[in-house]
Amino acid sequence: MNPAHNIYIHVPFCMSKCNYCAFFSHACANPDWDKYQDEIQNEIEHWGHVLGRVTIPTIFFGGGTPSLMPIKCFEKIIGKIHQCFNVQADAEITIESNPGTIDKIKMHDFKSNGMNRISIGIQSMDDERLKYLGRRHSVSDAIHTLITAQDMGLGVSGDFIYGLPGDTVSDVINTCKKINSLGLTHCSMYELTIEDGTPLARTNPVMPTNNEMAEMYLAIQNTLNLDRYEVSNYATPGNHCRHNENVWDGAPYIGIGRGAAGRIYYNNTWYEQRGNGAEFSPMTSDNRAIEKVITGMRTMRGTHLTDDVKRVINMDTILSMPEHVRISGNRIRATDAGIMVLDDMLAKIIR
Ligand SMILES: C[S@@+](CC[C@H](N)C(=O)[O-])C[C@H]1O[C@@H](n2cnc3c(N)ncnc32)[C@H](O)[C@@H]1O
Ligand code: SF4
Repeated sequence: MNPAHNIYIHVPFCMSKCNYCAFFSHACANPDWDKYQDEIQNEIEHWGHVLGRVTIPTIFFGGGTPSLMPIKCFEKIIGKIHQCFNVQADAEITIESNPGTIDKIKMHDFKSNGMNRISIGIQSMDDERLKYLGRRHSVSDAIHTLITAQDMGLGVSGDFIYGLPGDTVSDVINTCKKINSLGLTHCSMYELTIEDGTPLARTNPVMPTNNEMAEMYLAIQNTLNLDRYEVSNYATPGNHCRHNENVWDGAPYIGIGRGAAGRIYYNNTWYEQRGNGAEFSPMTSDNRAIEKVITGMRTMRGTHLTDDVKRVINMDTILSMPEHVRISGNRIRATDAGIMVLDDMLAKIIR
């Protein structure tokens, strides 16, 4: 029997493109949903044939803006997953959503289809900054969506972006205080990255310096009333995103839909995989182990010291850097100081 696989389903459509975003998504509010849903169902069937009825611990609908997809498509897609695989009774099923694209009725329908977690793109607690980012919603729209989801009993996460041009440490502290008042049990805090080819890149913005960004990062950790469990992710105990945690820990996952990426494990071999049949090629065990080190070390629980991981890291180097990396039990993990120099540290410890 093949091992459990998590499922990531990409929905690459948005109402419009935000000024900063380089994710694989198109501005198209009314795509041919039936066609897209058929593509997704065919891919699910394909992987059901390849892997057999493996266990599915988590499903993540990411985007783009999955909350634009009509509920009948979700019904069919989730029905197909149940038909082809063994979905765990307590599976975590997450949907990414944008404020203004989802209401109480839609959330209720999502819940009826087994979805239990919603990640809302709030991005900022300031309307001017939302405009700068090219968002279509206001802070109050986002808070309305958030409260509706909380009242509905869904697990709720908020995405936020900090470090915009002109942002100061005290701005970030104020944002965190506002986030604390929302009663979120999970949030993702991303440093603004200026991606090539985006409208923001064309304005040549003057960004905060690296030192200022580092101070903002520390201020977030000190002000948010949630625990950091990954470089950009904060939660109360028990509310971590299980899907992402499994992926960061090196568990296999199937990427479904245009633009999705996966890592499949069967017949004792790892495969690099992309949705819509775009790629399926074997990986060496060492390359996969290096990925596990890179993603695992971004988490506070660190990387599991499995035999494949031990082969690609340098234990002597790790033991010589106790201020940046520690061995605890059967894991290696970065210290708080190590997280601040993660890329340099990884370059040293990976053979
Ligand atoms: C896959 S995206 C899409 C989620 C959803 N469509 C939305 O916009 O609310 C997930 C998150 O990545 C973050 N993100 C995207 N581009 C970014 C960038 N250039 N810099 C920092 N964060 C970014 C945003 O916070 C976004 O919510
Ligand atoms: S940030 Fe979200 S809504 Fe905006 S373009 Fe990217 S995927 Fe679409």
